[in-house]
Amino acid sequence: MYRWLDERLNLERFKKKYLSKVFPVHPTFFFGEIALFSFVILVLTGIYLLFSYVPSSEIVTVGGKKMPASYYSILLINKQPLGLIIRYVHHWAAHLMIAALILHMARVFFTGSFKKPREINWLVGMILFTLAILAGFTGYSLPFDALSVVATGIGYEIANSIPYVGNAIANFFFNGHFPASGSLPRLFMYHVVLLPALLSATIGLHMLIMIKQKHTQPAKNKEIVGPDKILGIPLYPQQISLMLFVFLSTTALLFFMASLLPVHNVEYFGPPTLQTPMVKPDWYLLWIYGIIKLIPGSWNIPLSATASIDPEVIGGVIAPGIILTIIALAPFFYKNDEFVNHLEPVSKRPIGTSLGVAFIVLFIVLSFTGYQAELNIPIWVCRIYTVVLPIIAFVITYLIIKKPFRS
Ligand code: HEM
Repeated sequence: MYRWLDERLNLERFKKKYLSKVFPVHPTFFFGEIALFSFVILVLTGIYLLFSYVPSSEIVTVGGKKMPASYYSILLINKQPLGLIIRYVHHWAAHLMIAALILHMARVFFTGSFKKPREINWLVGMILFTLAILAGFTGYSLPFDALSVVATGIGYEIANSIPYVGNAIANFFFNGHFPASGSLPRLFMYHVVLLPALLSATIGLHMLIMIKQKHTQPAKNKEIVGPDKILGIPLYPQQISLMLFVFLSTTALLFFMASLLPVHNVEYFGPPTLQTPMVKPDWYLLWIYGIIKLIPGSWNIPLSATASIDPEVIGGVIAPGIILTIIALAPFFYKNDEFVNHLEPVSKRPIGTSLGVAFIVLFIVLSFTGYQAELNIPIWVCRIYTVVLPIIAFVITYLIIKKPFRS
């Protein structure tokens, strides 16, 4: 059979050219793969859910109760033999993908793998990160229960409050004033067509660039095989077996989480009502909510008689935009004189590493600020923490990795 196919498709050439490619190995290289496999599981479980989900906010009457058709379709999915577990796996896969992405970014950053020649792939990665967050946000709206309508409405209001262009952008994105009757089908289209297509194409580009530039290697490889050779395992059969192992482990973990950890219970929140439930964004958006809380209500910059930059725009758009832009530009803060093809020790970039740790602490403090009322911490204390804790983190990290303190 193999010979028959080889004669026609020249499989031997393909095998020599691609399947024998060597991949360096390091445990932290698995974060990118976990993000990739979480995405694959999201697509597979999403296809299952598509068989029964109804993307319509039209009101239907079931047993005398009125509810959106989408909400009712989720209740029906929950009752199917596999419906609930597949919904939960889909939910946890979204969280795992974003968590793995954050760890993957941290790995790339703290090992210097974002520097020359990998600046382009870092920027492509930032696009992937934004697309993944948008996919999570649009997915949140789909059950159309009280919680998701309020949470999605907050997104609409933030976009709407951008001066001059905000109303047009918000009405285009949400297909009218959310929750207009056309909003849910539009958000559904983003979630199941546009964003997965963009994610697939961008992941493809990310992988192509990675293969073209070759993966960075553990630093010790340089001493063993020299600076220009790659030490690792061939794609077939070792690397593929490892990838299969990571894929199966990710799937097992997600089923385990889905069996033990309940998710967004649509029946608990019920169909949308006039009462607004207490809504907090998911953990990966909590830092933006924290910034909105920190911005004083008096920060209102008038632009004209009808337009102003209000605290919501400063906290929800401008400040997160600045933070993400700084992260995206990280490779360009370094002098591009040498190629980095081996993982760099953190001591090589004391300032960059300390800034990275300061940013992580900033994200953690901002996320806790999202729970400031529940934690009973006055907002002025949170403002002090937001400035002081990242600075302390920077100084401590810098002192630890600077030479005189290392043994
Ligand atoms: C859906 C999103 C993403 C997927 C599926 C993905 C997947 C991967 C995989 C499988 C690798 C090779 C293995 C590894 O180094 O972990 C890789 C490498 C890389 N990724 Fe990502 N990634 C994503 C997002 C990102 C983000 C958000 C960034 C940074 C902003 C990024 C930057 C990089 C860089 C620079 C490399 C090359 C690293 C090296 O050669 O050491 N990626 N990615």
